[in-house]
Amino acid sequence: MLITFEGIDGAGKSTQVMKLKRHLQERGREVLALREPGGTPVAEEIRELLLESRNDITPVGELLLFAASRAELVQQVIRPALESGSDVILDRFFDSTTAYQGYGRGLDLGMLAEINRIASCGLVPDVTFYLDLTPEDALMRKFSEKSLPLTFDSGELDRMENSGLDFYRRVREGYHAISGKNPERVVMIDALLSPAEIQRRIMESLDALCTKTG
Ligand SMILES: Nc1ncnc2c1ncn2[C@@H]1O[C@H](COP(=O)(O)OP(=O)(O)O)[C@@H](O)[C@H]1O
Ligand SMILES: [Mg+2]
Repeated sequence: MLITFEGIDGAGKSTQVMKLKRHLQERGREVLALREPGGTPVAEEIRELLLESRNDITPVGELLLFAASRAELVQQVIRPALESGSDVILDRFFDSTTAYQGYGRGLDLGMLAEINRIASCGLVPDVTFYLDLTPEDALMRKFSEKSLPLTFDSGELDRMENSGLDFYRRVREGYHAISGKNPERVVMIDALLSPAEIQRRIMESLDALCTKTG
C-alpha cells in the first residue's frame, strides 16, 4: 500500500509518519518511509542542488528538478518496494507540487497535473492523509518549539512577512481544493488534534480501506 502525508510545515507529518511506520511494523508489515527529494544516488544529488543553490533556481527549473528526483525515486525505490509487498509511506508527494507550485506560486495547474503524472510514472497513493493546519497555528508551533515568546502585538508575528503568510494561506486553500477533488483518496484530519487522536483516525481509515480492498 502507498500512503502519503501532506500538509504545511509544522502540521505534524513527520510525527505521524514515524508513528505509523512503527505501528505497521508491529503488525508485521515491511515498511519503507521516505522523504522527497532524495532516496537514490541521483535524487540525492538533485536534493543537494535544490538546497544549495535554491535562490538561483527559477520556479520552473525547481519544479522540473523535483520532478526528476521523484521519477528516480518512484522507479528505483517505490515501485520495487510495493511490488515486493512492502508498504511505502511518503512524507509529501505530488499533492505538494500542486499545492505549493500551483496554488502557492501560481504555476498552471493543467501543466502541473501533466508533470506530476510523468514524474510519478502514473503512480497514485492508495490513501493520502492531509493534516490541516492554519499558517498562523503552524507559526505558533514553530515559536513554541524554539521556546520563543509569542505575542501578537510584540512584532514577532509581523516579522513573518505578510506575503509569506499569504503564500501559506494559498497553499492551504490548494490542499482544500485537492481534498475536495479527490474525496476517495484524501482524508483530511484536523492537525490541532492530539498526536494520539490523529494516529487513531489514521489507523481507523487504513483499517476501513483494508476491509474494502481485502
Ligand atoms: N498533533 C500535534 N499537536 C501538537 N503538536 C504537534 C502535533 N504533531 C506534531 N506536533 C509538534 O509540532 C512540530 C512539527 O511537527 P512535525 O511532525 O515535524 O511536522 P511536519 O513534519 O509536518 O513539519 C513538532 O514540534 C511536533 O512535536
Ligand atoms: Mg517534517
